[in-house]
Amino acid sequence: MARIDDATLRKINATSDIVEVVSDYVRLKKRGSGYIGLCPFHNERTPSFSVSKSRNFCKCFSCGKGGSPVGFIMEVEQVDYPGALRILARKYGITIEERELTDEERHEASERESMLAVNDFAMRWFERNIQQTQEGRDIGLAYFRQRGIDERMIERFHLGYSLDRRDALRTEALRAGYTDEFLEKTGLIIRHEGGGISDRFRARVIYPIFTLSGKVVGFGGRTLRSDKTMAKYVNSPESTIYHKSTELYGLYQAKPSIVRKDKCILVEGYMDVISMHQAGIENVVASSGTSLTEGQIRLIHRFTENVTVIYDSDPAGIKASLRGIDLLLAEGLMVKVLLLPDGDDPDSFAQSHSSSEVERYIEENEGDFVKFKTDILMKDTDRDPIARSRAMTEIVRTIAVIPEMMLRTTYIAECSRRFGMSEELLTLQVRREMTARAERQATDDRARQARRNWEQQQASAADEAAAAAASQPQADRGAAVAQPANRLAPYEREILRYVLRYGPLYLADMTDDHGQTYPMNVIEVVASLLEQDMLQFSYPPYADTYAAARSLMARAWPDYIARQRQRLEETRDEQLKAGRDEIRRTAMDMAEIERREQELQHSVASLVDEGLEEASRTFISRELGVDPDDTVRKVTLSLVSERHKLSKIHSKFSRVETERDKLIELVPMAIYNLKEAIIEQRLASLREELRRCGSDPEACNRILSDMGQLNESKKSLAAYLGERTITPRRH
Ligand code: UTP
Ligand code: MN
Repeated sequence: MARIDDATLRKINATSDIVEVVSDYVRLKKRGSGYIGLCPFHNERTPSFSVSKSRNFCKCFSCGKGGSPVGFIMEVEQVDYPGALRILARKYGITIEERELTDEERHEASERESMLAVNDFAMRWFERNIQQTQEGRDIGLAYFRQRGIDERMIERFHLGYSLDRRDALRTEALRAGYTDEFLEKTGLIIRHEGGGISDRFRARVIYPIFTLSGKVVGFGGRTLRSDKTMAKYVNSPESTIYHKSTELYGLYQAKPSIVRKDKCILVEGYMDVISMHQAGIENVVASSGTSLTEGQIRLIHRFTENVTVIYDSDPAGIKASLRGIDLLLAEGLMVKVLLLPDGDDPDSFAQSHSSSEVERYIEENEGDFVKFKTDILMKDTDRDPIARSRAMTEIVRTIAVIPEMMLRTTYIAECSRRFGMSEELLTLQVRREMTARAERQATDDRARQARRNWEQQQASAADEAAAAAASQPQADRGAAVAQPANRLAPYEREILRYVLRYGPLYLADMTDDHGQTYPMNVIEVVASLLEQDMLQFSYPPYADTYAAARSLMARAWPDYIARQRQRLEETRDEQLKAGRDEIRRTAMDMAEIERREQELQHSVASLVDEGLEEASRTFISRELGVDPDDTVRKVTLSLVSERHKLSKIHSKFSRVETERDKLIELVPMAIYNLKEAIIEQRLASLREELRRCGSDPEACNRILSDMGQLNESKKSLAAYLGERTITPRRH
C-alpha cells in the first residue's frame, strides 16, 4: 500500500464519473436529466437513488446517503478516503506508485486493509502454485482440465491450488512480511489447541471469493480426494471482511452480463458458475453452500429484477430452490425456475452441450414458479385430488408473499388457468393467506399481551377478594392480602428504578426456546424475567408506573429513537463534511490529508453512539416525569432523582464503574431478590398455617409438602442466576 501524491489525487477526482462509478453497484435507468436506481445503502423495492451526471453527484431521496464518486465509494465499500481513491484508481487504470510500507505504516493500516492484503497475497500464491509447481500442475491443473475447465476460466476466476503441506502458505506469507494476526483473522491459518499452527487450505483446489469491487474476501477449497470422511469443501470463516450472507460467488465476474441481459441466473456451486461461464452464459452467480439469504437477494436486486433459479433436480436441490423462490418473490423480484434433465446439474449440463444448446434450453424451459411448483408437487400424481389441492395450497401460499398487487394478480390468473379454478376464489384464498401471515407475525406480541391480561384479571380478582374481606368484621384474611404489597414494595421499587432510569438501554442478548437470540434492553429483560414466573408488581403505584413505562416504550420508542438517530447522523455527516472541506482546503500534502482525515473520523465516530445513549437514558424519565397521571408522575420523579446506593455496595471497586456498567448484574439480581422475598413471604404464611392446622394430619402434610416445594424453588433460584440465560454482549 502506498501514499498517493497530489497530482494522482487530482487525476483520480477529475477522471471519476459518478454514473460510471455508481453503475458498478447499481443498475441505473435514465430518468429526466439524470439517472435513478435502487439505493445500495438501504433495502428498497422502488428506486429512490438518484444520480446527476452534470453535478457528478449521487444521493438517495429516502435515506440521504450518497456523495461524490469518492464519497460514494467510501460509503459503499466501507473504506476510508485513501482506500476509496485506490479503488477508483484501479477502475480507471490510474497507476499509483507503490513503495514498501514502513513498520509504522504497516501498523497503521486498518485491520480491514490488512486482511484484504493478506488474502490478495494468498490468492496470488495459490495461483502461482497451480501454474508453476510440479504438484500444482500435476494435481490442481490436471483436475480442472479433467473437469473441462480451460485456461481462460482459471485466469478469470483466479483458480488456484494449495500445496499438500502443513504450513506452506504461512511460511511464505511470514517471509513476505505478513503477520500471523491477519493470517488468523482471515482464517488462512488455524491455531490448534495444542499451540500448533497450520494452513487451513491444504491439497485443495482454490476458488477465491470476490466482492463486487473485486476484492478477495474469502476462499473455498475443494478436496481432490474421494475420501468420504474428508469435508468436500473447506471455506474461509466469517470475518470482518467476509460476510457469507451478503456475498455471491461469481457476482464480480457476472455483473456486466447481468446488467446487459437484465437477468441473473442463480445456481448452487462454484463449478456451476464456472462451467456456465465457459459455455458463454456469464450472468450466473451461486449462493454457494449457504441457503440463499435476503442480503444476497438484495445484491442481485441492485442490478436486475429478473432471476432464473437453476438448482440440481435432486430432492435437496429442489427443496433449496423452493425456499429460495419464496424469498426472491418476497423481495419483489420476478422469478423463473428451470428444471434440468434428471441427473444433470448446471455444470454437467453446460459441459455436455454447446453454448447455443444451453442458451436455447434455458429459453425454452424456464417457467414461472406456478408451473414449477405444479410440476414438482404433482409429479406422478396427476389424477390425485389430494395432491392437487395440496399443490394449490402451496402455490397460494407463495403468491401471498409477493408484495406487489399487480404481480399477485398475474400469478393468480396463471394459477386459475392451470387448475381450472375461478380467479375470485383464488384471490380470496390469497387474501386469507396474507392475513394469516400477518397474524402469525403478530402472534408473539399477542401471546405476551394475553398473559398480561390474564395477570391483570388475577390482580383485580385478588383486589376484589381483598376488598370483600376487608368489609367483613373479622378481616384477618384481608390483612394477609394487603400486607404482602408493603413487604415486597422495596424490592419492586428497586426493579422499577432500573426500568425508569435505564429502560431503553441495551442490556443483553437473550436466547429464546428456539435458540433464537435477540438483543434486549433493560425493560425487556425485566419483563421477560418477571414473566418467567408470572410475576407482577403488587404495590399499585409501582404496577401503574411500570405499565405506563411499557406502554410508552411500545407506543413511542421506535419512532423517537429513529428520529434521534437520523438527527445525530445528519449532524455527524455535516461535521464530517465541514471537516473534510477544511482539510481539503488547508492540507499541504497527501500525508497530512490522511492524518487529519483519521483524526476527523475519530472525533466524529463516537458522536452518534454517545448521543443515542444519552437519548435512551433520558427518554422514559422525561416522558413519564410529565405524565398526566399523578401517581405515575410522582413515582417517576421520586425514583429517578434518587441517588443510588450503589457506591455503598460496590465502593471497593467502583471508582470508575458506574451503576450503568453493572446493570447486567444488578438487574437480574434485583429480580432475584424480589423472587426470593416472595418465596420467603409464602413460607412465612405457611408456617403460620402450620401452627394453626392443629390435629388435621392431611392439612399438615399438604402444608409441609408446599413448604418443601418452596424451599426447592429457593435453591433453584440461585442456580437460575448462575445459569445465565443472559449473556452480556462483548464490545
Ligand atoms: P456441491 O456438492 O454441489 O459441489 O455443492 P459443487 O460445487 O458442484 O462441486 P463439484 O461439482 O463436486 O466439484 C454446492 C456448493 O455448496 C458448497 C460449495 O459452495 C459448493 O460449490 N459446499 C458444498 C460447501 O461449502 N461445503 C461442502 O462440503 C459442500
Ligand atoms: Mn457439481
